Amino acid sequence: MTRLPPAQGKAPAEADFGFTKVPLAGKQRLVDEVFDRVARRYDLMNDLMSGGLHRIWKDVLVSMVKPSRNQGFAHLDVAGGTGDVALRVAAAGGPATRVTVLDINGEMLSVGRQRAVMAPAGSRLAFVEANAEALPFGAGAFDAYTVAFGIRNVPRLDAALGEAHRVLKRGGRFLCLEFSDVDVPGLNRLYEAYSFAAIPVIGRLVVGDSEPYRYLVESIKKFPQAPQFRQRIEAAGFRRASFTRLTGGIVAIHSGWKL
Ligand SMILES: C[S@@+](CC[C@H](N)C(=O)[O-])C[C@H]1O[C@@H](n2cnc3c(N)ncnc32)[C@H](O)[C@@H]1O
Repeated sequence: MTRLPPAQGKAPAEADFGFTKVPLAGKQRLVDEVFDRVARRYDLMNDLMSGGLHRIWKDVLVSMVKPSRNQGFAHLDVAGGTGDVALRVAAAGGPATRVTVLDINGEMLSVGRQRAVMAPAGSRLAFVEANAEALPFGAGAFDAYTVAFGIRNVPRLDAALGEAHRVLKRGGRFLCLEFSDVDVPGLNRLYEAYSFAAIPVIGRLVVGDSEPYRYLVESIKKFPQAPQFRQRIEAAGFRRASFTRLTGGIVAIHSGWKL
């Protein structure tokens, strides 16, 4: 077989794993290892790293979902991990609200199942182990779709956005809570210093391992800036795409409608 010189051959697709370039096909396994390592301490670490702010950000996200309190409401929370967002949606809705927590990582889901047993609205949750890039649901199955701090881990971002669009009903809403670009002078340098110096240290003390948290901080820096991400949401077919920055842009909530 004739080998093409590198300039003419098709380079294997690559993805960012934090600041490291890895083969696209290998990224998911690396991401899975990160969440295998942190699953048992994941919720505690979220509180410690964000000083509890992640609870407020998630409450704002769920206030935008507005699940119906008196009619059926089918909600999908992708990369839902330990069910933190799903439990909030279930509690905000009524008895006919059903929330599917989908995640690729069985360890994260198993923590979520244990939490759901203890939570008042936990019986409204169902857990599905699957990939955001290939959702195991029919078209138009859900009234709303959320993904919180998850989409930047998915190797094929545009495939995940396309699937989000496919599984939503017409009139359904896509909402994504994700770290963003800090836009307050002074806060950006403070935040960067905190992220790179303190977060891996907290990770080592609490989880016994700093590497997963180094990945987390690096992956935030590599994620597209909010206006670029809005364009990708529009390219997936969503209309009226917009974003709202919270806490000086540390995070943003992105929204799009399937119309
Ligand atoms: C930072 S956690 C967020 C968990 C939860 N949404 C929250 O806000 O607490 C990221 C989650 O994304 C999941 N994930 C990574 N790649 C995924 C994929 N391709 N499909 C579905 N979930 C994925 C991980 O397993 C992990 O549970």
